[in-house]
Amino acid sequence: MTGAITTVRTVKDLRAHLATWRKSGETVALVPTMGALHEGHLSLVALAGTKADRVVVSIFVNPIQFGPREDFKTYPRDEAGDLVKLIKAGTHLVYAPDMAGIYPKGFTTHVRVGDLTEDLCGSARPNHFEGVATVVTKLLLQCAPDLAVFGEKDYQQLLVIKRLVRDLDLQVEIVGGEIVREGDGLALSSRNGYLSPAERKVAPLLYHTIHEVAAALAQGAGADTASEAGRFKLEAAGFRVDYVAVRDPETLARLSGPVKQARVLAAVHLGKTRLIDNVPVPLPASTNR
Ligand code: PAJ
Repeated sequence: MTGAITTVRTVKDLRAHLATWRKSGETVALVPTMGALHEGHLSLVALAGTKADRVVVSIFVNPIQFGPREDFKTYPRDEAGDLVKLIKAGTHLVYAPDMAGIYPKGFTTHVRVGDLTEDLCGSARPNHFEGVATVVTKLLLQCAPDLAVFGEKDYQQLLVIKRLVRDLDLQVEIVGGEIVREGDGLALSSRNGYLSPAERKVAPLLYHTIHEVAAALAQGAGADTASEAGRFKLEAAGFRVDYVAVRDPETLARLSGPVKQARVLAAVHLGKTRLIDNVPVPLPASTNR
């Protein structure tokens, strides 16, 4: 126990809590996270609280979604700090399993979602989405929530999870939460702390560039022309660009020529930090500047 929040570490304890709530007819929302929580995560907790009686937040840094040269070991961890934030945000239960609680000895079952994972972050990070799909399936089965909330910040991840839930008939509603940004446009991320002060100054250009790409598309520019212009601008500013892409918002299929409904997605490296972001097209009136 920490303050008014209970942390459980085993699926047995998790299910015992859920059973009492279920008995009294309460609905449950799950918000899966890897911890190092910021306002983006907390906005998902708040959204979950508007849709269910009880909110469970899971904290687990999932090793199998990191590549061999990625930052699993150095990924920020701050459970004590996270708990303080979660109490304020209205969480009812924290599920923080240890490694064996998710991957017991001999674990060998993986969930692989096809086509959606084949490019964008899927090509830059082989096995990443299989790692995500596997852990998310497991968390959904352990918790059996009525709904689970994921951020649009990881737009491809959100679609992958919606697809696996549909394909496997998991009985859960997947809800997407909007991206929370810093005042200068940079999307909040647990990895923003890796940026040097100089990089942090340049980083918002990622958002401003994809926003410009979206604005150009809304005015009739072709997908290829607009995304190439975005790539050029980011490279000129010192970003190493994985992709700037204009895709169908539901299927992530490639689009070419003038587009109506689309999502602009980008992934870049700035020094040692990998940043991703995305925006819708056409832009909602409130984000038009
Ligand atoms: P993590 O990066 O901790 O993110 C947890 C959730 O917070 C994800 O659904 C993510 O999209 C959302 N999120 C992150 N930054 C956000 C922002 N600025 N605004 C709104 N939502 C934001 O994503 C993962 O963990 C993992 O892959 C996980 C799904 C937990 C599986 O291990």
